[in-house]
Amino acid sequence: MRQCFPGVFERGGKLYTKNRVPGQQVYGETLVVEDGVEYRSWNPYKSKLAAAIMNGLQNFPLSHCSTVLYLGAATGTTVSHLSDIATQGLIYAVEIASGAMRKLLLLCRSRPHLVPILGDAGKPRTYRAQVGQVDLLYQDIAQRDQVDIFCKNMALFRPAWGMIMVKARSIDVGRHPHHIFREAERSLGQLYHVQESVSLDPYCRDHRALLIRSPGLGQGKDKAA
Ligand SMILES: C[S@@+](CC[C@H](N)C(=O)[O-])C[C@H]1O[C@@H](n2cnc3c(N)ncnc32)[C@H](O)[C@@H]1O
Repeated sequence: MRQCFPGVFERGGKLYTKNRVPGQQVYGETLVVEDGVEYRSWNPYKSKLAAAIMNGLQNFPLSHCSTVLYLGAATGTTVSHLSDIATQGLIYAVEIASGAMRKLLLLCRSRPHLVPILGDAGKPRTYRAQVGQVDLLYQDIAQRDQVDIFCKNMALFRPAWGMIMVKARSIDVGRHPHHIFREAERSLGQLYHVQESVSLDPYCRDHRALLIRSPGLGQGKDKAA
């Protein structure tokens, strides 16, 4: 295994994270053992962060001690890999759908540094009291107002880094994704520094990962790997 970012490994063109709960599969991923350590394969077709890494993401805003506010956690596919990486950190996982939350709760039982929050990411004040200081805001929500939701949370929690997985078709199915991405970059660029913009094709069509840095706002660690 070759470590490409802190806690992220590559072998034979595939990504892996060290399994924090050896023997446990979260979404049917492959488990492999090397030198006595168990790794979980990280599928870029099922996780947009893995897709961004596969597509050449340069800066990685996570380390073993990161604290993350994750909006749109679903059943925990990507959250589980973040929890493999941020072994000494904390991940607040916000999800609005109770069905997905039920599965996420099972994951949280075996990974105590995951904090599940049943809530609406569009109303960050409703979960403000449950969330401490965060280093990274990560959002993957297919809503028309996804950029506004992201900005509201950035403004309230003031992390050093933000990452939003923009789904063009949810914002406006009638316009070319290229224009939507440009608009999202422009409006975020008025408030923050857009450090990277990475297409997620072909793993996730019409999506882009935008990595945002908040100059002067970060209260925690402010250096990406
Ligand atoms: C594309 S899925 C997320 C997949 C997940 N990030 C992963 O990679 O494993 C989007 C999720 O966002 C949730 N969602 C949509 N609107 C939301 C909101 N306003 N607040 C919180 N979660 C929301 C949906 O219920 C859904 O589970």
